[in-house]
Parts: sequence; structure tokens; C-alpha cells
Amino acid sequence: MTRTESTDLIVILADKCIHVCATQVNCMYTVGVHFCSEMTVWLSLLVPFALVGILVVPSLCQDAYPYTDRVCRTDVQYPPEDPKAKVPSFVLNLDLSPEERWRPLVKNKSAEVKALLNDLIDLLGAFFNETKVTELLDDIMAPLAFTLPQPYQDEILGIAESTGIPLGQIVLYNIFYEVNPFCTSIVAENSNGTLYHARNMDFGIFLGWDVKSKQWAVTESLKPLLVNVDYQQGGKTVAKAVHFAGYIGVITGVKPGVLTMTMNARHSPDSGFLGFLQWIMGRRSEQWTGFFMRDTLMEATDYATTKTRVVNAKLMAPAYIILGGTKTGEGSIIVIDREKPAYVEELDPKNGKWFLVQTNYDPTDKPPFYDDRRTSALKCMTNTTQKAVGLGPIYNVLSTKPNLNLLTTYSALMQVNMGYLETFLRECPQPCYPW
Ligand SMILES: *[C@@H]1O[C@H](CO)[C@@H](O)[C@H](O)[C@H]1NC(C)=O
Ligand SMILES: *[C@@H]1O[C@H](CO)[C@@H](O)[C@H](O)[C@H]1NC(C)=O
Ligand SMILES: *[C@@H]1O[C@H](CO)[C@@H](O)[C@H](O)[C@H]1NC(C)=O
Ligand SMILES: *[C@@H]1O[C@H](CO)[C@@H](O)[C@H](O)[C@H]1NC(C)=O
Repeated sequence: MTRTESTDLIVILADKCIHVCATQVNCMYTVGVHFCSEMTVWLSLLVPFALVGILVVPSLCQDAYPYTDRVCRTDVQYPPEDPKAKVPSFVLNLDLSPEERWRPLVKNKSAEVKALLNDLIDLLGAFFNETKVTELLDDIMAPLAFTLPQPYQDEILGIAESTGIPLGQIVLYNIFYEVNPFCTSIVAENSNGTLYHARNMDFGIFLGWDVKSKQWAVTESLKPLLVNVDYQQGGKTVAKAVHFAGYIGVITGVKPGVLTMTMNARHSPDSGFLGFLQWIMGRRSEQWTGFFMRDTLMEATDYATTKTRVVNAKLMAPAYIILGGTKTGEGSIIVIDREKPAYVEELDPKNGKWFLVQTNYDPTDKPPFYDDRRTSALKCMTNTTQKAVGLGPIYNVLSTKPNLNLLTTYSALMQVNMGYLETFLRECPQPCYPW
């Protein structure tokens, strides 16, 4: 087991027949992943912001034994009883000032937030220079806080103050989800018309591989931060969302009796990194995805007008926004592009289309063979049948590899009429696919 020069990110796992090596070309790292000579995948990435491109991609991948469950799981208990899967809840009192409202949560979690940020800075430092990274964060990121719309600006200031973590680092923490998550979202309609919406959140690709535990370092550091947030106004629940403590945007949420929403990252040549640079340069015509999601969720009155709002959104990063409503046929995948009008794919239960699956590739494109989580989810959803679909069966689909993989941080399941949102921390038993 050897380590190439420079970083913790780069390891050679000779004992497991996986080796990862890297070559530096200016700021770009070319990372090669080699699995037992069954396949070689070369990825080049601009660390840490964007997966830029895939260079060489021969042979098998997702189907390489033993990484894929060839049979859909149907035996996973729902809800899981494992206490390690449990996620705490927090009531966010919107009647408090923005500076105050997150304080009880983030004060409690400040050590975990610091640990995660230290992991990230170590990684960035390995690629650049740690002292410089810390200085740059303060120089570039801290002033960004004051460009954010309200109440987000004051919430971020309050979080920096409550945790004692430098403002620039809290800002970084609030943007890096915009560009990195790989995920699976599913909306499905039972034959009796009940709608379900669920997702796996896969996060932390290339952010530090831990040789001993065979896990992604950042994925693991995120788990203790996970919390179900109950947004309350006047003592009443307005919405519920899954958060990492200290991250104030919404990626997964439900407005009881109105709708459900999830966001999946979309990687396109015109990536979120460019939008982010344009924001730094002063362009303010586009919105931050996580904040747009939260505004949209909080202000939603019904599915149809929300869908129109999302279709017309101008976002800083390309994204997939998946919506579920309350009535039959109300479910859609909205593909947001910074340059083109949105593409919409909808449920059509009358014509047999009773569920939608979205991973990280356009519905109109074939998923790449080295990351085909769509085929597995489609196969397992179809096998579930419309009559039987519900929380338990969907949880089983999300528990089938490679939809469950070493990046999977959580599974969240929602049912709009009940205002139900449950989140479970995930572990992927070895042998498990790295993504
Ligand atoms: C589909 O479900 C049936 C039983 O319900 C099972 O026997 C079969 O193996 C499943 N197919 C896949 C691909 O998992
Ligand atoms: C803070 O942590 C303590 C103990 O770890 C726990 O009892 C308390 O409920 C937590 N408070 C919040 C707001 O999460
Ligand atoms: C890292 O940056 C700091 C501050 O800019 C500088 O003093 C230090 O020499 C740099 N270290 C390396 C190893 O380049
Ligand atoms: C619809 O079917 C699901 C799954 O079989 C069940 O859990 C749910 O209670 C049913 N809803 C209604 C309104 O009948």
C-alpha cells in the first residue's frame, strides 16, 4: 500500500484490487481508478468544485462483480430499527430573528461542523497550500456573506457567531453542496392515488478516501451533522426539511398537504462553478439553488404554480428539481439549465408511467456505464408494482446497490398528505461500490 506524492485523497488500495492514482496538471488533477484490470476509469476533476470530464472509459464498471445487487432488495425492514440510522430533529422557530434561530442547533454541533471544515481545508490544503486556503477563505468567502439575500445573510452571520467558526468557512460550508451531490430521487404514485417522494443523498465523491475504513472521509464527517428540521411559525409546522447542521439551504423538503421537493446535482460543461465565479464578480441575476429551494418550499401554495416557478427559475448552477404534489399525476423532474429553457418530464399514471427516477443525468440521455444508478432503480421500481408501492418498498429500492453506495449519506422518505418526512443514515456493507 503506497501513497503518491501530495495528498490524502490519493491512495493505492493494492489489497482490494482497487488502485487510485493521480497526476497533477496545473490546478487540474487527473485521477485514475483501476479495478482489478476489469476496468479503468480516468476522471479528471477540478478540485474541489466540479467534475469536469471523463477522459477514458473502457469496459464494465457498475456491473462488475461483486459491486451490484443483481436482485432487487425486498427484505429490508422499514422503518429500520438500527439506532445508528436515527437522525435527530430540531424545531426551527421562524418567529426568532434570523441570527438567533439556528443557535441552539449549531452551538451543539459546532465541534462536528469544525471537524468537517477541517477535513475540507486539509484536502484543499493538500492540493494548494493550507495556510493560503485558510487566508483565501477569509478574503474571498467572508465578504460573500454580505451579498446573500435575506434572511440567509443574517442566518449565516448568526451561525458563524454561535459556533465561533470564521465567517468565510461557514460561507464555504453553505456553497459546497451546490456543486457536489450525486443522488437518486424517486416520485411514485400508488394505484390508490397516494404519492410518495424519496431520495438517497450521495455526497463526498473524491473528498478523501480513508484507507483503513474504506470510506469517504467527508461522507462520514457529514453523518453526525444530519438533522430533520421542523420549520415552525406561531408554534405550527410550515415545512420540514433535511439539513446538515449549519447548512441553511434546502435540498430535500416537504410542505405538508402541498408538495414535496428534492434537488439533484446536474453536471454540465456550464457548471455551477462558473455561476459561482460570476456571482463573485457581481452578477446577481441568478439565485443560489439551496436558497431558491427553501424559498419555493416555504412559499408554495400548490403544485401547479410551484412547477411554473421552478420551470422559470434562473439558478447559479444547473440542477434537477424533482417535485411531487398531492393529486394524481402531480410529479415532475425539471431539468434546469443556465442557458436553455427547462425540460420537464411528468408522471402520467393513466398511461402507465406511475413513477419517475432521477439520478445525475438528463432524462433524455443514456446514463454512463460507469455510473448507472438509473437502470437499477427503474428495474426495482418496476418490480415493486404500482399496487404495492409505499414507503417500505421504496426504501428497499434505495437500499439496492448501486443506488446504495459508499457515498450514500442518507435516505429520506416523504408522503405529502401526512406531512411525513423521515431520514435515515446509511451504511453500505462491503463489498460496496465506491459511488
Ligand atoms: C422481482 O420480484 C420477484 C418477486 O416479487 C423476484 O422473484 C425477482 O427476483 C425480482 N426481480 C429482480 C430483478 O429483483
Ligand atoms: C444538545 O445536546 C444535548 C446533549 O448532547 C441534548 O440533550 C440537547 O437536546 C441538544 N440540543 C439540541 C437543540 O439539539
Ligand atoms: C503557504 O502560504 C503561506 C502564506 O501565503 C506561505 O508563508 C508559506 O510559505 C506557503 N507554504 C508553502 C509550503 O508553500
Ligand atoms: C394506498 O396504498 C398504500 C400502500 O398499499 C397504503 O399504505 C395507503 O394507506 C393507501 N392509501 C389510501 C388513501 O387508501
